[in-house]
Amino acid sequence: MSSDRLFLNYIDGAWVPGSGSTPIADTNPADLRETIGWVTDSTTEDVAAAVQAAERAYPAWRATPVPVRGRIVRDAGRLFEQRAAEIGRVLTREEGKILAEAEGEVLKGATLMEWFSGESRRLNGQTVPSEIPNTFAYTTREPLGVVGLITPWNFPMAIPAWKIAPALVAGNTVVIKGAEQTPWVTELVVRTFIDAGVPPGVLNMVQGRGATVGAALVEHPAVHAISFTGSTEIGHLINARGAALGKRVQCELGGKNPLILLADGDVDLAVAATAKGAFGSTGQRCTATSRAIVHRAVLDEFTHKLAAAAAAVVPGNGLDPASTMGPSVDSGQFGKVHEYLQIGAAEGAELVCGGGRAAQGDLEHGLFTQPTIWHVQRTMRVAREEIFGPVLSVVAVDDFEEAIAVANAVEFGLTSSIYTRDVNTVFRYVDQIQTGMLHVNSPTIGGEAQLPFGGMKKTGIGPREHSTHAIDFFTEWKTVYIDHGGGFRGGNLY
Ligand code: NAI
Ligand code: MG
Repeated sequence: MSSDRLFLNYIDGAWVPGSGSTPIADTNPADLRETIGWVTDSTTEDVAAAVQAAERAYPAWRATPVPVRGRIVRDAGRLFEQRAAEIGRVLTREEGKILAEAEGEVLKGATLMEWFSGESRRLNGQTVPSEIPNTFAYTTREPLGVVGLITPWNFPMAIPAWKIAPALVAGNTVVIKGAEQTPWVTELVVRTFIDAGVPPGVLNMVQGRGATVGAALVEHPAVHAISFTGSTEIGHLINARGAALGKRVQCELGGKNPLILLADGDVDLAVAATAKGAFGSTGQRCTATSRAIVHRAVLDEFTHKLAAAAAAVVPGNGLDPASTMGPSVDSGQFGKVHEYLQIGAAEGAELVCGGGRAAQGDLEHGLFTQPTIWHVQRTMRVAREEIFGPVLSVVAVDDFEEAIAVANAVEFGLTSSIYTRDVNTVFRYVDQIQTGMLHVNSPTIGGEAQLPFGGMKKTGIGPREHSTHAIDFFTEWKTVYIDHGGGFRGGNLY
């Protein structure tokens, strides 16, 4: 099946093709015979046109009362709810995750809209006592101007939505560049905000290649801030370049998230959480569980039960309700997963189950991998590096101290989890674990709108996403001193 559908740019209220000449194929990863459409090829000039449109729209948008901006975001959230099935189907075809996960993502995005719209009525500053007589001091916030958003394919609805919402509520105008693999979903997200009432020029989208469009956004002098989610490599590149150009940068990057199971933990709950965290969304979540750190006393029971859970996973086309796990997003990602399967085998990882491609019947046309579990040594690459596939590395430990040491011995620090019934251990874990989010007796995945989302170490750059921190990233503070005494203020001025 092939399609001539071309995914266009949205600039200054109009759908327009990019000025490049080599479109990118948008392929269904569950069935590579299906070309869903083509991504228009954009250039630095297209980015410049989008940024100029955003600059022109900025003064009126900045002057729009914050709750009015918030109401548009609220309406976008309601539309996302209504469109969850429609957007979910497209998401499954482009990205591969099963329909339940795709619709779930859209509904999750809608709850974030609900929260950010509420924040529009709380864009507060503070009144602060001054040490000077007759002086009224307060703080107030204002938007940054034009901001650039660069987003990945693994949550192609939720991540763009959760960056667009705080940027718009705060009064910025936006140019977004979605991932090459999921242009249709990015288009549907932008369309939904437009249908909710975002005026022309306030939200612009440029489709195309990261190295061209993404880089041009980072370079453009009128773009004041970049919010990025994606690979650690590109995030650190953008951060370095942004720093050189004096820009504000926020990045949410890779993970190697551990789930710790201690001897007193509930094994069945830990198994269920690990299966969900490791194989859910085909392991293509920044919050995926990619390591289980398990006390030797429960290692056999854990391994046995988890292997049974893995055997129950049904890889397949996400549109088929019988499937419980979709494919890798594209051949590059699939290649990365299978390269790590070879690396692990060469390093001596001991396979419990999986380890290869899933290609029986119709699956041969897609990028499916068997859910994989192996026992590894903590120093192996497969115990330390992000794979982003349905591959779980299990490390055996003797006690809590060793578990924490292993958990922290990676360069990432997004999320983690511990299964124990001992309250003292819980508090030691909260104190010692080096992750920006952590869970006690629940899976590593997930995040709520009203709570900060992001990581420590190489995972996180700049303020957290979600919550009031997201609004902080997209606003500038002003500190105001008003002398209402009518005389000259003497003394030490500094
Ligand atoms: P990527 O970081 O290359 O792509 C993410 C976004 O950045 C896309 O929109 C892309 O077009 C853009 N981009 C690429 N190069 C750029 C550049 N030079 N300047 C500006 N923007 C650029 O990630 P990719 O290649 O899709 O995946 C590679 C690995 O990254 C995955 O295997 C996974 O380990 C990790 N990843 C992590 C994600 C997360 O949720 N934290 C999401 C996606 C990928
Ligand atoms: Mg890349």
